[in-house]
Amino acid sequence: MTDLELIEKAKAAMKGAYAPYSRFRVGAALEGRSGKVFTGANVENASYGATCCAERVALFKAVTEGERDFTAIAVISDSGSHTFPCGICRQALSEFSPGIAVICANRNMDYEKLPLNELLPHSFSGKDLE
Ligand code: THU
Repeated sequence: MTDLELIEKAKAAMKGAYAPYSRFRVGAALEGRSGKVFTGANVENASYGATCCAERVALFKAVTEGERDFTAIAVISDSGSHTFPCGICRQALSEFSPGIAVICANRNMDYEKLPLNELLPHSFSGKDLE
């Protein structure tokens, strides 16, 4: 799938956002090694800390459906700036695919693309628990 096709899927997923508090809607589309794409949008909560970002919604859908290896994720919002995954989402993605390509788009579909390990250098992983 091309970068723009993945961004289109993230943009469509953004419609599912539940963001009554921040009014900041985010969409994500995560491409698995199998070629299957899993989408997500942010789901907020009146107890703000219970909010889940779009990227983790997509990731948890994918993992619970058996996909464990990912090639790319596209993230988009209504913002004019490129939307980068937050730190928690970087860590969550890194658990499965530390080298995944992260495509950070703005509302005009302009984007920058960089590997996750550049966004999360020296990450903590299961190896550190040994
Ligand atoms: N948000 C995401 O969904 N992904 C990100 O990478 C950044 C933040 C959401 C969480 C919250 O619902 C809203 O954006 C404002 O922080």
